[in-house]
Amino acid sequence: MNNEYILKDFPIIKNSKVTYLDSGATTQKPISVLKEVEKYYNNFNANPNRGAYSLSIKSTQLYENARENVANFINANSKNEVIFTKNATESLNLIAYCYGLNNIKENDEIVLSIMEHHSNLVPWQMVAKKNKAILKYMYIDNNFELPEEQIKSKITNKTKIVAITHVSNVLGTINPVKQIIDIAHKNGALVVLDASQSIPHMKIDVKNLDADFVVFSGHKMMSPLGIGVLYAKENILNDMPPFLYGGDMIEYVYEQDATFASLPNKFEAGTQNVGGAIGLSASIDYLEKIGYDNIKKIEDELINYARHELSKLEFIQMYCTKNLNNHTGVISFNVKGVHPHDVASILDSENIAIRSGNHCAQPLMRFLKIDSTCRISIYIYNTKDDIDKLILGLKKVYGVFKKYIEKG
Ligand code: ALA
Repeated sequence: MNNEYILKDFPIIKNSKVTYLDSGATTQKPISVLKEVEKYYNNFNANPNRGAYSLSIKSTQLYENARENVANFINANSKNEVIFTKNATESLNLIAYCYGLNNIKENDEIVLSIMEHHSNLVPWQMVAKKNKAILKYMYIDNNFELPEEQIKSKITNKTKIVAITHVSNVLGTINPVKQIIDIAHKNGALVVLDASQSIPHMKIDVKNLDADFVVFSGHKMMSPLGIGVLYAKENILNDMPPFLYGGDMIEYVYEQDATFASLPNKFEAGTQNVGGAIGLSASIDYLEKIGYDNIKKIEDELINYARHELSKLEFIQMYCTKNLNNHTGVISFNVKGVHPHDVASILDSENIAIRSGNHCAQPLMRFLKIDSTCRISIYIYNTKDDIDKLILGLKKVYGVFKKYIEKG
C-alpha cells in the first residue's frame, strides 16, 4: 500500500498527531477543497440568484457549475435532478415529507432494513404514523448481511417505498441494492437509497442503479460540513410539492397564494450554501483524481489488515460479515465486558479517535442484543501504522480492565 502521496494533501493528518479512525462520521478535507472554498469567499462571495451585478452572477455560475459537476459525477440525466440540502438527513426528510406524506396511504407498506441509520428510519415512522401505513423490516442473518429470503418476502405488491442504506454505518455491510431496486420496481415500489456511507468508497451511477431517490452528505466525502445532496428522477421531483417555503423557490407571490419555481430552485428556499457546494465540487474533483480503483485498493488492504489484527485479540468481538467482498469502510467491535465509551476514552488518551455508542442505529443494536459498539472507520489517508497504534491502544485497554474482561 503506497498512499504517502495522499497523506500530504490533508493538513490535519499531516500536521497533527491524531490517529483519525472516524471518517464514517466525517472525513478530513484535502487542501484543494479548503483552497477552493477560501478562493470563493476571498473573491466571489455574493448572494446567488439575487443580483443583476457581476459578483452575484459569478456566485450563481459557480453554484450551478457545482451542481453540474455533481450531476455528472453520479450520472444524473440533468442537473435539475440534483437538489442541494444541508446533509443526507435533510434530504431524507424532504423525501418523507414531500413524497411520503402525499403518496403513502392507509395500509400501504414501507420496507426498511434493520440496519438503517435513524435518519432513514425515524422520518418513515413519522409517515407511517400520520398516514396509518405499515413499517416492515428486512432483518440480517448471522453473517450481518441481508439474506435474499428477507428481501423477497418483505417487498411485495403492498410495498410503496423501500428505504435502504447502501452500506451500513455500523456493520460496513454492502447491501445488494441493485437487486433490491429491481425487486421493488417489479412490485411497483420506489426506492430511497442512502448512499452516505458508500459514495466515499465506490462509484454511484444513478442511471445504472435506476434508484428513484439517492441521498448523501458531502462531509463524509471530504467536503465541508453543511452540504448534502438529494438526487431524484425529474418526473418524481416535478410531481412533489416544495419542502421549505420562502425566497427564491417561488415564481409569483400574491397576497393569498403563490406559484413555485421550476427545478431545482423549487426545493432550495432561502440563501444557499454556495461555499459548501463549491467545496463538494472540489471534493468530487479530488476523488476523481485519486480514482475509485485506487481508493478500493487502499481501503481493502487496510480493512483486511485491521480485521486480521483485531481477530488476534481474544478479548475483542467483531460485528462484520465474513465475506470480504461485501465489507467496506467501518469495523464495529466490542472489548468484551468493557463499555465502548471507556474504550474510546482510553484510546483518546493515546490520541486515537474512534466512535463509540449506538451510531444512530438503536433498532440494529437491539436486534444484535447489545447497547453499543466501538467503531473504527477508515479512509484513503489511513495507513497500517494507524491500525498498529489502535491495536497497541486496545492492549492498553486490556491492561486497565483486565479483571473485568471476559475472555472469549
Ligand atoms: N452518520 C454518521 C456516523 O455514522 C454520523 O458516524
